[in-house]
Amino acid sequence: MEKKRRIRVAIDGPGGAGKSSVAREVAKRRGLIYVDTGAMYRAVGLFVARRGIASDDAEAIIECLPEIDIAFIPDGDRGVMTLCGEDVGGQIRTPEASLYASAVSQIPEVREALLDMQRKFASGGGVVMDGRDIGTVIIPDAELKLFITASPEVRAKRRFLELEEKGTPQPYEEVLADIIKRDKNDSERAIAPLRPAEDSIVFVNDEYDLEQTICYVLGLIDATDHIYGRKS
Ligand code: DC
Repeated sequence: MEKKRRIRVAIDGPGGAGKSSVAREVAKRRGLIYVDTGAMYRAVGLFVARRGIASDDAEAIIECLPEIDIAFIPDGDRGVMTLCGEDVGGQIRTPEASLYASAVSQIPEVREALLDMQRKFASGGGVVMDGRDIGTVIIPDAELKLFITASPEVRAKRRFLELEEKGTPQPYEEVLADIIKRDKNDSERAIAPLRPAEDSIVFVNDEYDLEQTICYVLGLIDATDHIYGRKS
């Protein structure tokens, strides 16, 4: 019997486009493993912030890299992010952690330190990975590459509502300013800048809600599986 090749799905895009919610949910519905690479940068950012190091002090950040013991333990569509053995899932989502994550992700040494870990997850297949450079750098040969995006205003509105729901409201103007700043950091950095891979499918979801985006991606996963899923 032919053996099924296990699909690797790479989902990139700017913050607030709903990538991780989509990636997690499609992983759950298709029995794939979800790997959150942004959480890895966030954990590095948290470590640096806790040390009291300024987010732009690249030299000090590089110096403490050997001490940063992070692990992502995949668990179906969830996954646990640990920093030096501590589950930091609840602490890496604050606005401060977001800005720190974006700052540390511009340092080539930080990216290099996370590269092997990310590729190892992809090597077995059966994964959905989301980030900024998954389709361009980490697994450029992924069976399915997607770039999910929306306008800054739409993304800010979604994040604003999310923060309000979580009981940690922030003024809309501030949320929008943070998004614009992160977009600039992520897309203008010298190394692995945020951009769609040439052969990725770009989906602008301004007009679509989460469930519609999920359905669109599920359709692509199923079609990809159908076409490429069997070894020749
Ligand atoms: O996806 P996220 O918002 O959790 O990512 C946090 C930060 O990490 C984001 O500002 C950019 C960076 N990042 C990256 O540079 N490359 C990745 N593959 C994932 C995230």
